[in-house]
Amino acid sequence: MASLTNKNIILGVSGSIAAYKAPDIVRRLQDLGAEVRVILTQGGSQFITELSLQVTSRNKVHDNLWDKEVELSMGHIELAKWADAILIAPTSANTIANLASGKADDLLSSVVLASDCPILIAPAMNQQMYASASVQANLKTLTKHQTLIIAPESGKQACGDIGEGRLAQPIDIAKQVGNIFQTTKLSGKKVLITLGATIEAIDPVRYLSNHSSGKMGSALSDACIEAGAQVTLVHGNISVILNQKAQIISVMSAREMYQSVMDNIAGQDIFIACAAVSDYSTKNIEKNKIKKSEKTLILELTFTKDILQAVCKLTQKPLCIGFAAETQNLVENAQNKLKNKGCDAIILNDVSRCDLGFKSDENEVLFLTQENSIKIEKNSKQKLGRKIIEILSEQFF
Ligand code: PMT
Repeated sequence: MASLTNKNIILGVSGSIAAYKAPDIVRRLQDLGAEVRVILTQGGSQFITELSLQVTSRNKVHDNLWDKEVELSMGHIELAKWADAILIAPTSANTIANLASGKADDLLSSVVLASDCPILIAPAMNQQMYASASVQANLKTLTKHQTLIIAPESGKQACGDIGEGRLAQPIDIAKQVGNIFQTTKLSGKKVLITLGATIEAIDPVRYLSNHSSGKMGSALSDACIEAGAQVTLVHGNISVILNQKAQIISVMSAREMYQSVMDNIAGQDIFIACAAVSDYSTKNIEKNKIKKSEKTLILELTFTKDILQAVCKLTQKPLCIGFAAETQNLVENAQNKLKNKGCDAIILNDVSRCDLGFKSDENEVLFLTQENSIKIEKNSKQKLGRKIIEILSEQFF
């Protein structure tokens, strides 16, 4: 099935009566998971308003190559780099001629020239114009340049003529855009990942925490996004920049992380518990900074709720993947966690080594299920994240 999850699509709208269908095309692309930005040509603006496209795309409409303010932020080069594909629908005879001759005299043609992503065009015009030798010659040139042509339909036209030149159906146009991207077993699946270290306050200045940087969880998030999944991240304290294609929720304590996971777990297909969650929190957080004294300070700690275990117990539970951070009796302890928490797989890492586990850019893990175990040799967390997602897809989907 076609999917555009995590894909950025530019929709170019040029001068054709069929431009009134552009908001529907925007919606169809969004239904497949795409983020859409619209470029409206001068001709296009004669048939559809900027406002309707802005409202449906939920983004500012781009229409001017010479807009100084825009060129400072999302200028034409940025737009070209942002796009995973450019769709021009409807494509007028004039836009086809511009593209075929490599012109760059408006924003749309400049963005097309400045981009190296797939270009799709859906011609729409009077049947006689469409059949004309020039339009057909230009389409041949564009096909040679690897532009994908979404063929128009035949039928009664707005001008009363009957013939080939009607814009293809918006739903079919969106599907054809989706078809150019490879789908994976995770395409469109919803994944919730916890990552980073929780922070348990002792007083207004001190806290209990651990060494998790969020690198492993962030690598898993990138791998899921790459595979076309819709990712939600619930993170504690981290020192990495997270992929903005994910929905990002920031929390502090184990209690907040528990609540946030429970609030967002419904409808998720996969839950990956990569966070280093504190097993204990302070019973009472002191209101004021505890004064230094030579007396032994005793902190009373209480057990936190186990998030992974709670998700595993849900009646409509997603596929649950836990991590086991161990320093001794590695496999035995991990197997116990797999059983006791009730998860579908547990990923064991040795956190006694300083070249692996916490904070390091590399890791080495054992992917354990009730049936088998797969060792993933030491590698960058990015590569390891991809491998974990590949194994998970093969074993469970
Ligand atoms: O973030 P990095 O610096 O890249 O480091 C990565 C990592 C070492 C933190 C990561 O690979 C890892 O091992 N994460 C799990 C850390 C941990 O808390 O493991 P644990 O063995 O104590 O817990 C077992 C599982 O239960 C984990 O999936 C944990 O998220 C979950 N858990 C634990 C306690 C709790 N209250 N709720 C939980 O959900």
